[in-house]
Amino acid sequence: MRIYLIGYMGSGKSTVGRELAEKLKLQFIDLDGYIEERNFKTIPEIFEESGEEGFRKVEQRALLEVSEFEDVVISTGGGAPCFFDNMELINRTGISLYLNGTPRILAERLMQSKTERPLIKGKSEEELIKFIDETLEKRNHWYKQCHFEIGFDDDIQISEVLDVLKLT
Ligand code: S3P
Repeated sequence: MRIYLIGYMGSGKSTVGRELAEKLKLQFIDLDGYIEERNFKTIPEIFEESGEEGFRKVEQRALLEVSEFEDVVISTGGGAPCFFDNMELINRTGISLYLNGTPRILAERLMQSKTERPLIKGKSEEELIKFIDETLEKRNHWYKQCHFEIGFDDDIQISEVLDVLKLT
């Protein structure tokens, strides 16, 4: 069993993933956390040193590694499915679930979040909403290749996740 949670920054992939793993008695891996541990650097440090292009290569390598782990729930970074053939790898090696939040809730959560995210650093709420609208439209091409999807405009209940995955 290998479940991937995909979706935009702020969609709750890590929170839902951790809870889902606990319910299903699976290991939980947060891909960004895995990257930071393996490289002894934070995500912002990798962006600063190697740019987004360098980060995407590191991310691809990390995804390849975790795609071999067994009995695991993996929450990916928001951009992971949208580069190289990562989405194809995800769907070939596991079940993918897209947490599809509205731009309103994503912006609200990202404005409140303490996590440093290089792609949106320093943006005002207005700039953030515009950025989300534009990038989400492009990213949906990849996200929509998922096996399962949950649309939401509020917090996601774990029971809903289990229902969608037909695990109840
Ligand atoms: C990114 C999302 C981040 C992190 C990096 C890039 C993106 O992860 O991988 O800052 O391109 O959407 P979260 O989705 O966990 O914030």
